[in-house]
Formats: sequence, C-alpha cells, structure tokens
Amino acid sequence: MNHTHILGFDIGGTGIKGAIVDVVEGKLLTERIKVPTPDPATPDAIGRAVNTVTKQLGYKGIIGCGFPAIVKKGIALSASNIDKSWINVNVENLLSKYTECPVYVANDADVAGMAEQAFGFAANQPGTVIVLTIGTGIGSALFYNGVLIPNTEFGHLKFHKSIAEKYTSNAARKDKNLNWMEFGNRLNEFIQHLEFIFSPNLFILGGGVSRKFDLYKEYFKLETTIVPAKFQNEAGIIGAALYGHRIKN
Ligand code: BGC
Repeated sequence: MNHTHILGFDIGGTGIKGAIVDVVEGKLLTERIKVPTPDPATPDAIGRAVNTVTKQLGYKGIIGCGFPAIVKKGIALSASNIDKSWINVNVENLLSKYTECPVYVANDADVAGMAEQAFGFAANQPGTVIVLTIGTGIGSALFYNGVLIPNTEFGHLKFHKSIAEKYTSNAARKDKNLNWMEFGNRLNEFIQHLEFIFSPNLFILGGGVSRKFDLYKEYFKLETTIVPAKFQNEAGIIGAALYGHRIKN
C-alpha cells in the first residue's frame, strides 16, 4: 500500500463512513463505504463495524479516524451521541485491536476542519476561521492563522435553556420538524453568537446539511462570510486520513 494512501474513517452518530484517501491530493481513491452506527453504539460494536469496512476495502496500514467526542491522546472524554461506555476508553487502542492496524483518532469536527484547512476554503486564511459540522450533533474546529485549537465543542455552548446542538443540529431540525426557514433562523442565531464572541474572518459549514446550503443561506444575517465546506460530507474522511498520516510522519 502506498504510504500516502491512507484509510480515513468518519464515525458519526448515524453512520460510520470509510474510504482510502490520497493525502497528497486530498481525494478519495475508493468509494465511500457506509454502515449504520450500531445501536447501542458501544466500543465493541463500533470496533466490529470499523473492522468490517477495513476488511471490505482490503486495507492494511495506518488508519486515521474522526470520532464524535472530546479526544485527548486517543482517549474519549465525552459521549453525547454515542454510548456512555466510551468515556475514558482509549479509542486508538480499541480500534487498533479490532482492525490489527495502527489507528490514530481525533475529534471528528477537528479532522473535518483539517481537510478544509489543507485543501479547502480554510487554506491560507489568516486570522480566526471556524468550521462547524452540522449533523446528529454540532461539531466545531477553531483555527487561528492555520493552527487548530482542538476540542472546542461549540455545539455544547449553553443556548436557549439547553445546548446549541439540541436547538439547531440536523437531528434537531428533523426531531422538531423545522422547515428550512425555521432551521436557518435558528442556525443564524447560534452562529451570530459565535460571531460576537470570536470575531472570525470566515465560517465554514460542513456535515450532511452543508449540501443543502442554498435552502437556508438567505436566513443568515452575519457580518462574516459563511460558505459550505468544499468537501461537504467528505471532509471528515479526508481529514481523518490526513490526521493519521501527519501523526505518523
Ligand atoms: C460532540 C462533539 C462532536 C459533534 C459532532 C457533539 O455532540 O460532543 O465532540 O464533534 O457532536 O459529531
């Protein structure tokens, strides 16, 4: 296996997606294989699912993985949209055991941000850039002059007597049956809050709902430019592979 062709995984609250990525070009080299996130999403169930996809791709080598939790030194320190039994689990060791490959793990939104930073709209952007992934939860990646400040968890900021991701994630949109105007207004409110706190130069929106950007963009009333992620829902896989490659080299 070419050492710049790395298997990247995006483990989400709804699906586990993997593909082999050319980390020099920032491109998927294989189809994206998606399996539903097991329910309950326990460490062993996810370990088995990640191994199934790895074997399906016939892959052996370094694996990079984005994981939907606070991750420090490969250890999960929170679990909002995955089983609580993940807390304090060394995700790198567990996935390495299941796949028999070296696995490197970081927060899913942080790695999606890394893809945008390396190959997408955050590239060469000075000052503060905020990448938000809107899916089952809300993930965030904060960059200052290209340097990532990891594990920011803006989706967990207190908001409307709850937290932001309960108010305006894609899951919240579906649960509450929000139309695009209602969803757009809520997302605008949240992003305006971040704008006031951080005065960024650019917002980038990723996650599944970034593909539908045109349906709600008119509701943004921001001073700051906001764009959908270049890699939309693939940013997580590309960034994961990039992370695995960078950590190893
Ligand atoms: C988690 C974050 C994650 C985000 C997106 C949130 O609930 O706390 O760690 O980045 O969902 O998956």
